[in-house]
Amino acid sequence: MRSHYCGQLNETLVDQTVTVCGWVHRRRDHGGVIFLDMRDRDGIAQFVVDPDTAEAFANADRARSEYVLRVTGRVRLRPEGTQNPNMPTGMIEVLAKEVEVLNAAATPPFQLDEHGKVGEEVRLKHRYIDLRRPEMIEKLRLRSRISHNVRAYLENQGFLDIETPVLTRATPEGARDYLVPSRTHAGSFFALPQSPQLFKQLLMVAGFDRYYQIAKCFRDEDLRADRQPEFTQIDIEASFVSEDDIMSITEDMIRQLFNDVLDVELPAFPRMTWHDAMQRFGSDKPDLRIPLELTDIDDLMKQVDFKVFSGPANAEDGRVAALKVAGGASLSRKVIDEYTKFVGIYGAKGLAWIKVNERAKGIEGLQSPIVKFMENVVEELLDRVDAKDGDIIFFGADKASIVNEAMGALRVRIGADLDLYTHEWAPLWVVDFPMFEADGNGRLSPLHHPFTAPACSPEALKADPAAALSRAYDMVLNGTELGGGSLRIHDQTMQSTVFDILGIGEKEAREKFGFLLDALHYGAPPHGGLAFGLDRLVMLMTGATTIREVIAFPKTQSAACLMTDAPGDVSAEQLKELNIRLRQKAKADASE
Ligand code: AMO
Ligand code: AMP
Repeated sequence: MRSHYCGQLNETLVDQTVTVCGWVHRRRDHGGVIFLDMRDRDGIAQFVVDPDTAEAFANADRARSEYVLRVTGRVRLRPEGTQNPNMPTGMIEVLAKEVEVLNAAATPPFQLDEHGKVGEEVRLKHRYIDLRRPEMIEKLRLRSRISHNVRAYLENQGFLDIETPVLTRATPEGARDYLVPSRTHAGSFFALPQSPQLFKQLLMVAGFDRYYQIAKCFRDEDLRADRQPEFTQIDIEASFVSEDDIMSITEDMIRQLFNDVLDVELPAFPRMTWHDAMQRFGSDKPDLRIPLELTDIDDLMKQVDFKVFSGPANAEDGRVAALKVAGGASLSRKVIDEYTKFVGIYGAKGLAWIKVNERAKGIEGLQSPIVKFMENVVEELLDRVDAKDGDIIFFGADKASIVNEAMGALRVRIGADLDLYTHEWAPLWVVDFPMFEADGNGRLSPLHHPFTAPACSPEALKADPAAALSRAYDMVLNGTELGGGSLRIHDQTMQSTVFDILGIGEKEAREKFGFLLDALHYGAPPHGGLAFGLDRLVMLMTGATTIREVIAFPKTQSAACLMTDAPGDVSAEQLKELNIRLRQKAKADASE
């Protein structure tokens, strides 16, 4: 139907006849001459229709925004003064000879270039219109290039693309499952996979050696800007490998991807232990673009007469940390109050601070609501954080988990507010994670997943599970966890020990993971892998602020699709077939 995409038209085609198909982006009537900006997935080009071509003119005259047209005409240079060097097609226009209306369009719920004026809800409800915006097309085009590049890299490295089931058993990754009732097995349910974790391990037992898949994963969890209930992983597993093998293969993959797609040479990926990351940045995914660090001051605060600080400093699970912001003494009271509110979101009970106005003056040169309580240690404190005139020091004191979360978030917030970024891209590996974390009910839960190998023997693991480290690693970029993985347990005794520590009894382990335990019996090779969040990767590479912007048809924060109105009611007949009776009778009645 066409000879060119709109975006391909340029001065090399002058005097040639071209045909495009696309949407009316804008239509302007200029004293008898009609200007049509025609748009397709490649760009926008200007067409001029004058009344001499009567039929074309009549059709152009009735065309409105978002009508679908086929237009044929001759390319010519735009007259001097009307050229637009900011547009790829801005040097030319097409004098239309034929205009055919392929389809009319109702007035759209929003003009594409006025999408900012309507809420995200309206855009998600009419997503097919929102996706016509050039920025959206650009993001999805880049997404396509990224997955193509990743596939090519992995295929070249000998990885095989193998699909794993979507209707399966629960695959524990720490979230709730999406369940699918079975018609043929009354009362039984499939679970949608939270990841292909167990299947990829079984592929290693089968001997495939190197596997990858761009796989859909499903997790019923609380959503945030970088989480969706249905998302995509670049899932990777290999046999007879060490941590270093997996880390170097995947680091090369990401390095090459950035090079090919963005023309960016990523800096070296430093490795940081989980413990260091928590101490220095209060986070297991530190944003290393920001040159601010937390400083431990437990030892000093043990000596002060201020319970708010000495309490946590002396407590086993407490922490007192300082965050120095160079030049921050100019922050207003209002801003400090705002930061105090901000850390409150993470459970902090306050945000103490010291402004260093003039260090040479000693206590007199400091301004602070708390310095009076700590005159005995203040000089040592200022030395430790290397405080200079004009700095501010913030303090967090509480349970270590609260201090880390609150002060870690404050660090990132201040980095953004004061635009302190020192690099554009700051990747790193976080390693040496603990095997388990306390879940608050006196039970341990896995920090990664229960198939992750510990860095010690089953005996040592049993003796002190809380102290055990795992052979897991996360790749972090600009404060986002891009991917995580580990070497796996390939020994049945070790796997049973871990289940035991997690409080999963033998019977439950057999019932849920019997197939895995059996497989480990039949010659399981040492193996390990990693999975990247593709949506997060694309979000970072396109500069999007949420992963919704890089998913064609995303769900809302409440895990619904506004366009299809899913999830939706089902008929009483379907429910009956599935042997399901709803507890909310009203709902069942309504669908009868
Ligand atoms: P994990 O649970 O860490 O590991 O997930 C791997 C990566 O997937 C991305 N991700 C998400 N992206 C969008 N929305 C979500 N709800 C979401 N949840 C996770 C993150 C994360 O780093 N089977 C293991 C991997 C392995 O051990 O090989 C796993 O799924 O970028
Ligand atoms: P207060 O004694 O409650 O008036 O607090 C004195 C200062 O300490 C105020 O600036 C509070 O914001 C701050 N503060 C109170 N509790 C904490 C805490 N747990 N961590 C850090 N600062 C706190």
